[in-house]
Amino acid sequence: MKLGVLTSGGDAPGMNAAIRAVVRQADALGHEVYGIYRGYQGLLDGDMAPLATRSCANILQRGGTILRTARCPEFHQPERRADAAGRLKAVGIEALVIIGGDGSFRAAEALSREHGIACAGIPGTIDNDLPGTDRTLGFDTALNTAVEAIDRIRDTASSHGRLFLVEVMGRSSGILAVHTAIACGAEAVLYPESPDDTYEALVSQLHANWIRGKRSSIVVVAEGDGVGNAMAVGARLEGDYGLDLRVVVLGHIQRGGSPSALDRIWGSRWGSEAVLRLARGERDFYLGEVAGAMAAQPISRVLDPHPVPAKDLGALVSVLAR
Ligand code: F6P
Repeated sequence: MKLGVLTSGGDAPGMNAAIRAVVRQADALGHEVYGIYRGYQGLLDGDMAPLATRSCANILQRGGTILRTARCPEFHQPERRADAAGRLKAVGIEALVIIGGDGSFRAAEALSREHGIACAGIPGTIDNDLPGTDRTLGFDTALNTAVEAIDRIRDTASSHGRLFLVEVMGRSSGILAVHTAIACGAEAVLYPESPDDTYEALVSQLHANWIRGKRSSIVVVAEGDGVGNAMAVGARLEGDYGLDLRVVVLGHIQRGGSPSALDRIWGSRWGSEAVLRLARGERDFYLGEVAGAMAAQPISRVLDPHPVPAKDLGALVSVLAR
C-alpha cells in the first residue's frame, strides 16, 4: 500500500513524533509512505516525495513539522478537492494520514466522502478543541510553555505590585486558557465559554482581591474571549481606573519548542495506530485519547459541537485565588 502523510493548519509540538511513527510503522509492515509538503496546499501543487525511514532520524524532539504546513482556503472549493484526489490517484496513494485540527479533519471528511480517499486523522493542535478526544498533540507542550512564561511574569508582577493581563492562544476555545490559569495560580481568567464572562465580573473579582490585600494579579485572557482580547481589556481597565497595568500576548511562543514527553508518546502511538488500522482496511477515522486509552472516532465526528472547558475549572481559578 502507498500512504500519504501531511500536516495541516497550525503546527503543534508532537507532529514530528507522529510523522516518524507513521513512516516507521509503515516500513515495518512493508508499506510505502509519501510525505506531502505544506499540507493541502502542497497536495494541490503536487509537492510530495517518498519518505524513507532514515529521513525521520532525529526529529522526535523537534517542534514544528518537517513536512511544513499551511492554511489552505482553496480547499473549501469542491473543484480543488477533485484536483487533490486526482493528484493522489495519479501517484497511486490509496490512503492519507492527516495530522492537524478541526479544519484539517473537515477537509479530510470531504475528501473521503466526495472522492473515496481513505483517511486517518491524528489530532494535532495546541487548542485541544476536537470532539471525541481528551488530548490533541501540542496542547501539553503549549500549556507548559505558557505556564513557564507566566511564572516569570509573576516575579515582576509581585515585585512591582502590578496587574498583568496575559493573552493565550486557543482561537475560539478557552480550554488552553483555563488550564493555564489553574496551573499558574492566576487571579482571574477570561474565556469565551465562561458563564460569567463579563467586564463587570472581572472588575469585581479584581476589587475583591485588592480588599483581601493582594497587590498584584495575573489575569489570563483567552484570545477569543467575548469581552475582548488582552489589549482591549487592558485599555478599558486603564481608562476606567487609571491602573498601572501591563499586557503580554504570548502568541506563537506557545506553538514552538521541543514537545513534552506526553506529546512525543501520543504522537508516536497515534502515528503507529493510524497505519495499523489503515493496513487492516479501516478508514475514515481519527484517533484520540479517551480516559487515558487509545480511541478512534469516525471522521464525520469532527462536525459535532466542540468540547468546552470542564465546568468546575473556571470557578476553581477564583476560589484558589483567595
Ligand atoms: O489553531 C492553533 C492556533 O495557534 C490558534 O490557537 C490560533 O488562533 C491560530 O492557530 C493562529 O494561527 P496563525 O498561526 O495562522 O496565525
